[in-house]
Order: sequence, then C-alpha cells, then structure tokens
Amino acid sequence: MTLNPTVLTVLPNDLDVQRLPQHVAVIMDGNGRWAQRQGLPRFMGHRRGVDTLKELLRCCKDWGIGALTAYAFSTENWGRPLAEVEFLMTLFERVLRRELQEMIDEGVQIHFVGDLQALPNSLQEEIERAMVATQHNQKIKFVVATNYGGRREILQACRAIAQKVSQGKLTSDEIDEEIFEQHLYTAGISHPDLFIRTSGEMRVSNFLLWQVAYAELYVTNILWPDFDRTEFHRALHDYQNRHRRFGKVEG
Ligand code: IPE
Ligand code: IPE
Ligand code: MG
Repeated sequence: MTLNPTVLTVLPNDLDVQRLPQHVAVIMDGNGRWAQRQGLPRFMGHRRGVDTLKELLRCCKDWGIGALTAYAFSTENWGRPLAEVEFLMTLFERVLRRELQEMIDEGVQIHFVGDLQALPNSLQEEIERAMVATQHNQKIKFVVATNYGGRREILQACRAIAQKVSQGKLTSDEIDEEIFEQHLYTAGISHPDLFIRTSGEMRVSNFLLWQVAYAELYVTNILWPDFDRTEFHRALHDYQNRHRRFGKVEG
C-alpha cells in the first residue's frame, strides 16, 4: 500500500489542537459553477459535492472536531428548476441509504435540521431511520440542514413559545436566550465557532441566523467540489489566527 501524502489523517502540526473550533458550519456553494466550468450539467457538481462533504466529515473526525453542520438545501432552493430539486431530493435519499452503515460504524451522530415535514415522505423515512440509528454515537455530530431557513427556524420557535405562553406553561418573563434556543431546530447543538462559505459569495443566505452571532466567518473562492483537506487546513489556520473577543476588551 502506498501512502498518499496529500491525505493528512493526523492534525497538521502547524495547528494547535487546543484551539480547534468545536463546531464547523459550511455553506457548500458552487456545485453548479464547478460543473459548468467543465462543460458538465449542474447535477454532476452536486454529485461531486457529496464526495467533498463525506471527506470533510471524515477529516473533522480525524482531526478531533466535535461537530460539522452542512447546508444542503435552503427554504429558497425550492425556487430552482423542478428537475434540479428532484435530483437533489433523490440524491439525499440515496446517499443517506448508501452511507448509513459506514456512519454508524464510524461513530457519527446524524441530525437533520430544517422544516423536514415538507420533504418527500421517502426521504423523511430515511432521515428518521438515520437519526434513530446513530443517536447514541459519540465521535462526531453531523448536522445536515435540509429545507432549512434561519428565518423560518426563528419564526417556528416564536410560535412554539407563544403557544406555551398561551397555554400557561411559560410566562413571557421567563423567555430568555436559553429557553429560546431550546425551541430552535438546533436545540442541544453548540453554536458554530467557524462558519465557512465556498465559492466566494459574501453572504449568509439564511443559514443559522441566530447561531452565527459570534462565529468566525471564512469565505473562500474555491468551489465546493474542490474544497479538500488542504483547503480545510487553510481555513483552520486562518481561524487560529483570529482573536475572538466576544465584545470584550482584551486584557
Ligand atoms: C450549492 O451549489 C448546492 C445547493 C444549493 C444545493 P449551487 O447549486 O448553489 O452551485 P452554484 O452556486 O449555482 O454554482
Ligand atoms: C446556499 O447556497 C444554500 C446551500 C448551499 C444549500 P445558494 O446558492 O442557494 O445561495 P445564494 O442563492 O447564492 O444566496
Ligand atoms: Mg449557489
């Protein structure tokens, strides 16, 4: 067996293990452009994007990062051509079915966040199966945002809280950040420390609006299918050179 030197399975030694982000979130953007640049149909970019995500998940696990959240489909992405939407839904379902056993074996705890009830029934079933089968895994949390919108998430939390208030289960004075977060899709999952967007777009596109409050943002021009370990290493290196002040003055 020959070792591929580009596959860094141990944490590169210029990174400080004590200062790794505990949770990385990624907007996996640029699949369509990646495909178009090579004269391929857009869906080929989505397919390649799955390989990239799989590799990033493995890398996070290898390097000791506790959680990875990936933006797979936004509430706005329904506005794409029907054929692309259908392709993506089928792709999610197929990949989930194909990869589940490996994720179980590797200790991945899978979560899906978003308005899941609007997804095709067969996909909802795979999601439920995957979440139940991996709920006790401890190695890494893998959160897939599917039919996810930050505004919708905040609205549904408000609605759920309002309902509890009207039922007398909660008073308005009791609503604080902790209570609010318990009603988000991401309840129980820490906030991301590092928030990556590929393909160079300098926007958040409705992703994790509440949770991103103090995340470090990193935008790269690399298109998602090309975001490999070397690029992730670069992002982590950049992250470790940031001073996170959280609004305070450094002593
Ligand atoms: C991101 O890549 C994947 C999804 C939104 C599902 P895009 O499909 O947005 O690719 P570009 O931005 O058009 O290149
Ligand atoms: C964000 O990418 C959504 C996902 C990556 C799933 P988009 O391509 O949909 O975002 P915009 O349209 O560039 O803002
Ligand atoms: Mg895009």
